[in-house]
Amino acid sequence: MNGLSHQILLGVTGSIAIHRALDLVSLLRKQKHKIYVSMTESAAHLVDPALFASLSGNPVLTDLFDPDSDDFPHIQAARTMEVALVAPATANILGKVASGIADDALSTTLMTLSCPLLFAPAMNSRMWENPFVQRNVEILQQHGARFIGPDSGPLACGDVGIGRLAPIQEIAQRTIEAIEK
Ligand SMILES: Cc1cc2nc3c(=O)[nH]c(=O)nc-3n(C[C@H](O)[C@H](O)[C@H](O)COP(=O)(O)O)c2cc1C
Repeated sequence: MNGLSHQILLGVTGSIAIHRALDLVSLLRKQKHKIYVSMTESAAHLVDPALFASLSGNPVLTDLFDPDSDDFPHIQAARTMEVALVAPATANILGKVASGIADDALSTTLMTLSCPLLFAPAMNSRMWENPFVQRNVEILQQHGARFIGPDSGPLACGDVGIGRLAPIQEIAQRTIEAIEK
């Protein structure tokens, strides 16, 4: 890390690993980066967007049609973001992006971007190993998206296997490398 400050879009989706995205925001901010969070509705069920707003120091985009947000917030992101990271990334968001679906604030914003795109998936191993999910991962990789993890080990549901969110230090490092390399 060369000490430069970068503009990072962090997409947060409805995974049990969502609490670790809060630590990720804190880590990236400690490194002086500017973090703009967009959360899905499922993510906002699990953690109050106000917590991401206060840790990131910026408003959180959850609703494209929020009268208090910028006009065309998804296009604004396309003009300014240097990298987009989805962490934790659900099976659902992988499927939506791989299929070109833009039906909420995060998926619509991701569809506008031309910066590097990274996913740090987190899900039960049965979901990760599902052939439809694996097909979506392949499609995303073929189009240049990069994956960080998932790792193997004990999962939140009690199973042991692949599907754990990668360590946040690794996610932060790979995200900055995607901009600087
Ligand atoms: C408590 C809880 C934890 C969940 N954890 C995960 C997860 O780790 N990974 C995943 O892919 N889906 C998980 N889900 C299911 C997703 O929340 C669900 O598929 C949702 O539609 C995802 O929406 P989103 O991608 O728009 O956030 C979880 C659901 C619940 C209720």
